[in-house]
Amino acid sequence: MAVVDSQKRILSGMRPTGKLHLGHYHGVLKNWLKLQHEYDCFFFVADWHALTTHYEDPYQIEQAVWDMVIDWLAAGINPGSATLFLQSRVPEHAELHLLLSMITPLGWLERVPTYKDQQEKLKEKDLATYGFLGYPLLQSADILVYRAGHVPVGADQVSHIEMTREVARRFNHIYGREPGFEEQAEAAIKKMGKKQAKLYRELRKRFLEQGDSEALETARALLSEQQNISIGDKERLFGYLEGGGKVILPEPQALLTPEAKMPGLDGQKMSKSYGNTIGLREDPDTVAEKIKTMQTDPQRVRRTDPGDPDKCPVWQLHQVYSDDDTRDWVQQGCRSAGIGCIECKKPLADAIIEEQRPIIERARRYEQDTGLVRGIVAEGCERARSAASDTLDEVMNAMGLIYDI
Ligand code: TRP
Ligand code: SF4
Repeated sequence: MAVVDSQKRILSGMRPTGKLHLGHYHGVLKNWLKLQHEYDCFFFVADWHALTTHYEDPYQIEQAVWDMVIDWLAAGINPGSATLFLQSRVPEHAELHLLLSMITPLGWLERVPTYKDQQEKLKEKDLATYGFLGYPLLQSADILVYRAGHVPVGADQVSHIEMTREVARRFNHIYGREPGFEEQAEAAIKKMGKKQAKLYRELRKRFLEQGDSEALETARALLSEQQNISIGDKERLFGYLEGGGKVILPEPQALLTPEAKMPGLDGQKMSKSYGNTIGLREDPDTVAEKIKTMQTDPQRVRRTDPGDPDKCPVWQLHQVYSDDDTRDWVQQGCRSAGIGCIECKKPLADAIIEEQRPIIERARRYEQDTGLVRGIVAEGCERARSAASDTLDEVMNAMGLIYDI
């Protein structure tokens, strides 16, 4: 079994809601692009999550799945560095969800803020279902089944990561204390050799008695480097370090996605529900048309009226797409009525189209060869399953579910 370095592992998922737009690109995807080089990344399509709210009309999910995977690939997510997969093809997520459900107090789920919020927001749907209540716990299983140390998410999802940490802690507390845990941990320390054992004990003491978190970090690094103790012993010592039992499911951290300052066509945040989006793979003519018909400063009625960029959504997009020179040109030209709005929008439309050109080009290859996309996802699912089933083995072992048959 492979040793998992949780601190290097990242997991994140997206619901298949259809084609992605530039808001997704400047927010989530650009962040993933960076992370894929720095961590061992698992990115998945959360199709079961889509069912928690769309159980009555699941038929569009399939198309949305493929559109989204092509969007990821076209944006530059590299299946050579990141594992791309489909949740419903890794049944271990469901298995862990079930096992975790045994120890998860109902109150924890009822208290997750998104539970009531979403029910309010999606009033037309009957969300008084078991699946909808349990959806944050499914998310916990998504994360914990890979023992991922970091989870890139938006601010709206942080409460789910918090709950995941509580579930992991509770699991480790209940199932991480085999009989004779302390004796086993002490025996494991001795196996590290005199010098290392002494260092471990000192660091542990500094953390447990003085809350010295630097000592905790150092001790963790020390454990990671150990070659001559078994994986089981290592996990015991990770847990013992913090005064608890064996760490079977490590607690993940939320890695907050930098807030995308991506305005939509009307100046509000770009979002499908506001109908103000530009698609990631929108064709150039449509982009040009959408920019051309954008609302500008309402005070600027005639070409000869000076305008105020601060009251204009076009300016907000210039701030994302234009260099300093172009921005100065907009500011001066607008305020002095030196330029007209059509003129002002031109470099903006050009910049967006330029940004999309390579993305659309890459997408074309995948659209024409759906076998290629399916192959990438199939391989990702296999890699994901292998990692997930390692965790399940440990979980079942800890829960006493290993039968000799
Ligand atoms: N719940 C997330 C959303 O709606 C998607 C998601 C499901 C997810 N499982 C996850 C995100 C695990 C991060 C990690 O956006
Ligand atoms: Fe907006 Fe540009 Fe017109 Fe000024 S000139 S109102 S910034 S579109």
